[in-house]
Amino acid sequence: MTMDRFSSGASYSPARRWLHWGMAAFFIAVLCAVEFKDSLPKGHLRHLAVLIHTQLGIVILLLAFPRIALRIRAAGGGGETARQAWQERAATAVHGLFYIVMVAMPVLGILAIQTREHDVRFLGMLLPNYFDDDAWLPYALPIKTVHEFIGDAVIGLIGVHWGAVLWHQFIQRDDILARMRVGN
Ligand code: HEM
Ligand code: HEM
Repeated sequence: MTMDRFSSGASYSPARRWLHWGMAAFFIAVLCAVEFKDSLPKGHLRHLAVLIHTQLGIVILLLAFPRIALRIRAAGGGGETARQAWQERAATAVHGLFYIVMVAMPVLGILAIQTREHDVRFLGMLLPNYFDDDAWLPYALPIKTVHEFIGDAVIGLIGVHWGAVLWHQFIQRDDILARMRVGN
């Protein structure tokens, strides 16, 4: 059966809401840093953009673990909605891809650098490198290419996610945004 609106009361826990908005901000910062890097003058500023990209990327990886744990504990979404079955499936697919991306992308980014025999540091701490060997060098470029390709696809995924939220907010006029709001 199809209903126009949600029966409200369905909601995400405060921790999930904070993690959602915090990570959304980090995703956008990570993407902006790397996409606008080339328009910066060569030197310190470009270096800073890459540093912001890698450091926030690793923060996303660290935050992914509590976020995944909370999602598993809550057994999925924020509660019942009145979405049609295909909309529910599409939302689950997009959210699932975000969860894969928040782990896979930082891991690929770290590997892309380490297989090139460079160090990766997080807040000054050297990350362990098990690929610091000539034998891994041929994998460096393919890993970087995959990282960049998926990274660009993520921009499209965020566009689809925004589009769905706008659709719910202004066309279907349900409370999808309210159940992700912080501080209420
Ligand atoms: C800044 C723009 C964004 C807005 C306005 C927004 C809005 C929302 C809303 C309203 C929901 C609830 C949807 C529902 O209950 O079905 C949601 C869920 C979700 N969003 Fe976003 N979002 C944004 C960015 C992002 C980004 C960048 C990510 C990437 C990680 C993301 C990942 C998710 C995930 C995984 C869910 C499912 C709920 C969960 O398990 O935490 N969102 N978003
Ligand atoms: C969720 C996290 C991440 C996302 C969404 C992401 C996304 C991207 C995107 C979109 C690009 C550029 C694609 C292009 O130029 O067309 C890129 C490049 C790159 N990323 Fe990431 N990335 C993430 C995390 C990381 C991490 C954690 C590292 C390493 C510690 C990393 C290292 C790199 C490197 C070295 C490049 C190439 C930069 C250059 O051309 O100089 N990324 N990433």
